[in-house]
Amino acid sequence: MYVANWKMNGSLPKIETWLKGIGKSLDKSLQKECVFCPPSCYLFQAAEIIKNEKLKILLGAQDIDPNYKKPLTGGINASMMKELGCDYVIIGHSERRQVFKEKNTLLIDKLKSASEQGLKIIFCIGESLEQKQANQTFSIIQKQLEIINKVDLKEFIIAYEPIWAIGSGQIAQPSYITDIHNKITNLFKGSSKGTFQGVSYGGSVDSSTSKKILALKDVAGLLIGSASLQYQEFSNIVLSKSSIKD
Ligand code: PGA
Repeated sequence: MYVANWKMNGSLPKIETWLKGIGKSLDKSLQKECVFCPPSCYLFQAAEIIKNEKLKILLGAQDIDPNYKKPLTGGINASMMKELGCDYVIIGHSERRQVFKEKNTLLIDKLKSASEQGLKIIFCIGESLEQKQANQTFSIIQKQLEIINKVDLKEFIIAYEPIWAIGSGQIAQPSYITDIHNKITNLFKGSSKGTFQGVSYGGSVDSSTSKKILALKDVAGLLIGSASLQYQEFSNIVLSKSSIKD
């Protein structure tokens, strides 16, 4: 899958231009492989455009609040996202872990409520630069993945995003990506845990690097931030897969 993570970007006109542009530049079979994650305030409008333009692109939420049975000012839960037309939700993004100090107990509650409501999960993991330099990447990732086994998940994607690569213009070395993706894939291969949809890569991916990354073994998809904001650039990333020779 190709996930367009718009973070805190966009406006009503930009969403419309983007979705209509995707409708023109990607055929329906490719649209089905894309997940559009605008800020939640634009999901309703995005769903309307998708319906009216007969697009096949899927919708994803950038976040949910756990479905606590108590008042939660500002909260938006998984069933609300589902009602708005979301198929996917991003959980565990490093920006939420760092800025909002989201810890495992909260992430477990989010995973549980997403799964109960039938949302597919894009679970983000990744190491900091200091952890990479201390050769701790895989042990950190393994720890971040431990909570997956605590939840009865249905379909999930693991998004490997080295924190130092996000928004920095720095891409991890192909051999590094292959190694980490292979190790993560092996952790879930043959596991009876839900439906593992593979490991996607994220962090400064654009159309000049996507082909090389998508050609790597065990890279099942991409999570794209800033390069997803223009529909032409996002489409070029999606189309770069078809130019890879086996
Ligand atoms: P970026 O963001 O592509 O802008 O680096 C990726 C992400 O944070 O998901």
